Order: sequence, then C-alpha cells, then structure tokens
Amino acid sequence: MKKSIFFIVIPAILFFSSCQQQTTQSSSSRAVNEKVNKVLSQMTLEEKVGQMTQITLDKFYGEHLDTARLHEYIVKYGLGSILNSHHDKSGMTTALSMKEWRDLQTLIQKYALETRLKIPVLYGIDAIHGATYLKGATLFPHNIAMAATRDPQVVHAAAKITAKEVRACGIRWDFDPVLGVGRQPLWSRFEETFGEDTYLVSELGRAVVTGYEEDGLKNTTAVASCMKHYLGYPVPLTGKDRTPAYIPEIVLRQIFLPPYKTAVDAGASTAMINSGSINGIPVHASKYLITDVLKNELGFDGMVVTDWGDIIALYKDHHVARDNKEAVRMAVNAGIDMSMVPYDLSFYHDLISLVKEGKVSMSRINDAVARILRLKFRLGLFDDPFPEKGTESYYEKPEYKKIALQAASEAVTLLKNDTLRGKPVLPLSKNTRILLAGPGANSKATLDGSWSYSWQGKNDSLYPADVHTIRQALEEEAGKNNVINISPDGFKEVSSEQISKLKKYARGVDVIILCLGEDAYAETPGSINDLTLPEDQLRLAEAAAKTGKPVILILTEGRPRIIRSIEPAMNGILLAYRPGNMGAPAIASILYGEVNPSGRLPYTYPRYTGNLMTYDMPVRAAKYYKPQWPFGYGLSYTRFIVTSLTGMS
Ligand code: BGC
Repeated sequence: MKKSIFFIVIPAILFFSSCQQQTTQSSSSRAVNEKVNKVLSQMTLEEKVGQMTQITLDKFYGEHLDTARLHEYIVKYGLGSILNSHHDKSGMTTALSMKEWRDLQTLIQKYALETRLKIPVLYGIDAIHGATYLKGATLFPHNIAMAATRDPQVVHAAAKITAKEVRACGIRWDFDPVLGVGRQPLWSRFEETFGEDTYLVSELGRAVVTGYEEDGLKNTTAVASCMKHYLGYPVPLTGKDRTPAYIPEIVLRQIFLPPYKTAVDAGASTAMINSGSINGIPVHASKYLITDVLKNELGFDGMVVTDWGDIIALYKDHHVARDNKEAVRMAVNAGIDMSMVPYDLSFYHDLISLVKEGKVSMSRINDAVARILRLKFRLGLFDDPFPEKGTESYYEKPEYKKIALQAASEAVTLLKNDTLRGKPVLPLSKNTRILLAGPGANSKATLDGSWSYSWQGKNDSLYPADVHTIRQALEEEAGKNNVINISPDGFKEVSSEQISKLKKYARGVDVIILCLGEDAYAETPGSINDLTLPEDQLRLAEAAAKTGKPVILILTEGRPRIIRSIEPAMNGILLAYRPGNMGAPAIASILYGEVNPSGRLPYTYPRYTGNLMTYDMPVRAAKYYKPQWPFGYGLSYTRFIVTSLTGMS
C-alpha cells in the first residue's frame, strides 16, 4: 500500500513542480516580451537601427578615449552595442585592468541613460579561454586541450570562472563558445575548437553554455554566451582562414549542426555567423542557414550577430553584392539581427534607407530589435546597467588557478614512452640532469596561444608574472642545478648557436628535453602553407638525437605539426596543446610522475601532409587512415588490462 502511494505521489509532485516551473518560466518570458513590446512600440526607425549596430571600442580611441565621439554614437545614433578592447601602441587589441573596464562601462551606460528611451548598451567581448582582455585574468587551456581532458566538469568550472571575471569588468556578453568541429588541422583557429568529433564538441559546448548561463542571466555570476561561428567555419578547402568551404548537406547536418542544436537546447542566448561561404554562398547572406535552419528549425529565439566586418565583406571580399547597401539588404533579410560593422555608420545609414524604400520590411526590423531588447532585459541591463557592486571580488581568486592546473594536467597527452635499459624514460626522477632546449622552453605565449592578454597572444610581457614558462616550472620542480637551459627568452627561431650549445652541453646530462611547437597566433595571421614542423626545429631535434642521450619532446602547439621525420628518434613525447597559464607546472608534474597522464587526442594526429583524415572517414577510405596517432590515443604510466567486455543490448 505504502509503495503504491509512493509511486503515485512522487510522480505527481514531479509533474506538478515541472508544470509550475514551466508556468513560471513562460510567465517570466511573457513578462519580458511585454516589456520588449512596450519599448519597441515607442521606438523610431532610427532608434531601432541604432540598436542593431555594433561598433568596436577602438573607434573611440585616439591616443586617449574620445568621449565626445563615444557620446555622439551612443546618444545621437542610439548605438546598441560596443565590442572588444582598443589597440595599444603596437596596434594590437590589448588587455585593460578591471578598474579601467569598470570605469569605461560606467561611462558608456551613463551616456546610454541620456538617450530618449534610456536603452542600455550591450557590451560584448572575446573571453574564450578565460577573460582574454582582463589584465591578470586566469587563462585556461584552449578548447583543443580541454577536449583532450574528456572532462565536461572541468570545462564547466572554467566557464563559470570566466563568466565571473568578465562580469567583474561590468561586461555581460561573451563571444564564446566556439562550436566549430575541428576537421582541418591547417586552419589557424584549430586550437579554438574541441577537435574533430561532433559528440565531443557538442557535450563540451553544452558544458560551456551552461557554465555561462545556467545561473540566470540576471545573476552576477552569469554572462550571455555566443555560439560561434555558425556554420561550417573550420573546414575551409584551402586550409586558410576565412576562405570558402564546400560541405554537402548531409555532412553539414551530421557533423557541423549538432553542436549548435545542443547549445540552443542548453539555452545559448546569441549566435555569431561564419565569415566564410559554404558551397558558394556566404553564410551571412544565407537565409536558409540563418532563418530557416537556425531560427526556425532549431528554434533559436536568441540574437544573431555578424562576425567582424562581415556585411562589408559581402561586397568587398565575397563579391556577391554590388555595394554596401545591397550587402546590408542581403544580410538583414537573411536573418542577421546585429551588425558588427565595426568601424563606421555605413550599416546604420543604409539600413534606414532600405526600410524606407521597402527593401527590408519593418517586421524584420522589429523581430531583430525584439531579440536584442529581450537579451538586454534578460541580462538585467534595464534594471541596473552599471558594473554590479561586489563583483570586483570575483577577480583573481586562488581557486581559479587550481581549476586551470587541473584542466592542464588532465589535458597533457603522453604519446610515446620508450623503455630504455629496461625502464620507461618517463617519469623522470628528481635528480635527473636535464638539458633544456627549443623555442617553447622559455615562452609564455606558446602555452596560451591566441586571445591571451592581446588578440595574437604573442607578447610575454603582458602575461602575469606568476605564469611560469616550462623552464621555470622545471627549475622549480627539480632545482636549478639539475637544469641546463640553452633556449633564449621568447619563442624564437632556432639559431646555429643553440645547436652548437646543445652538442656541447649534452655530454654532462642524463636527458634532453626539447620544447618544440608553435608561437602564439590568432585567426588569419596564423595561416600556414605546410603542417610540417618548421625546418629549424627539426634540425634541433636531429642534433639532439645525434648526441645519443634520451630525448623527450614536449609539443606546445595549437594544431598538429607533422613530426614524422624526427618521431622515431624521440624517446618520450608529451603533447601539451595550448595548456594555458598553469600549463608549465602541469607538464612538470607529469614529467616527474606526480600526475599520471590521462589526456586523449581529440583529433587524428597526421603523419603526412597529404593524408589529413578524421577517424570517422567513410569505410571506403578507411584503408588510407594512416595517422601518426589516431583520434583517442594517449598513454599513461599505468598498464590497464580490459577483460570480459559485454555488449549492451
Ligand atoms: C573573430 C570572432 C570574434 C570577433 C570579435 C572576429 O575577427 O572571428 O571570433 O568574436 O572578431 O572580436
């Protein structure tokens, strides 16, 4: 009797509470929609188009902030959104202190409150492996390394910390996560992806979106996410950034769409569009992909923003529009809600004319603006647009570093561990005498890669002082006396002097640790013609092998650089990807066996430049799958024996 009551009562309670939840949710979204409609009904066409316009912060900077121009854009043109940081003297987008960010946000919102309808400005930033543009922020491993952890919990924890540090700056919109499936390793943004497997990308993408948004956007621990770059960006045919992709519909739907579907279902608030084209049609001009598939089929009720200058690119680069006005018409009619213009008012003026001429309907404009206002309401910007009190304390907490260390430790992947004289070369013992060489040994940039305290991430002097290079971490771990370092500071081409030093000092050591890979790069500047590791680094590796000492290779790289010619001569190989601020201590702990390596390749590591295949190639091509290491590969210091596997019925 008791049992049957239990079975009736519990489901009834669950049913009741889920109905209640749905009712509360729908009544809160009904309330938001009512507020949106009220504001919308009072807006002029100019005010609406102003909301759809997004300008980069640099537009308002000369030597200093040009407050008059900022005021003009916000108050006169009713600017809806500002993005990014501004350039430093070297012309690179750079990090600001938390106080600078908060002061800036305060000023922007003060101007916004001077507008007729007091609509707050939505500020957006790239915080893609931590708060990229915040001085002193904790930067986590890039997604490609996160994917090697196979650990949604650590990904989720990193996203939550990122949200807090971004919100501490007074910013509530983060252009992240990247949900492109990384299947073209030449592509310079490969490190921003979660690798080649759709399921892995979907699940880790879900972990990021919920990490950012699950607390509710009004909560000071949340930011609006931006799933990007919808759709098919990671597979340009040429391998070069922002060049055309050719993807059959079946592959689009099987491989590239599912992570976006998962993110929409997880509540992603915004989407950014791929700058490239698919099958000859620029995605920014594709009504099919933006409106029919994303908004209608996937049921995405959030806001769609262009990528950088991509409406202008429709006529300047893709040559599918005659001029800016035609480009604006195509993009807005395709379903774009906000234009990251990002430097001028061309979008604003042309869109106003297009509406007046009847070439863009008022209902399309109202839909776009409603999506923007809905987000602003959901983020609580109408209640209080200023940096929230108390959020300053979210900055730079020691526990953030623990998560960064955990993520890096779980990511580093052991690819090779020879047994020499009856003993595996790794882990090392504490008194091992080491010769440390290679461009990655003394570089912070190689650990963090793109979007690290500047757009390109190259400048070591911008990194926090307590971020260790591999050299520093090894010296700390093993003592300076055990480490002879012959690598210069920063990621530099290998000189013949370094090779001579290597030959000279090798005699007195037990092992050579070679740190090879890539300097930091972001987006188009990172495009390359050859996946093979550069010649100078290969020469260094060959020289190391010739010394007869055991050689351990540590790779810090955003994409798999081909090492076929040197791999047989390396006795141990650790792939660290872009392991972030705590990457060096994580590498050291693994080298000395304090952490058992558990990372697994999130992509197929190619052996040949002419054989770039993914593990899920069609059966007919399977015989050609000849990678250096397959997807999922990764060793540990333990031996596992798996027996008595049973299938699931
Ligand atoms: C990148 C985006 C980024 C945007 C804003 C573009 O160049 O492709 O990923 O969000 O700039 O910084």
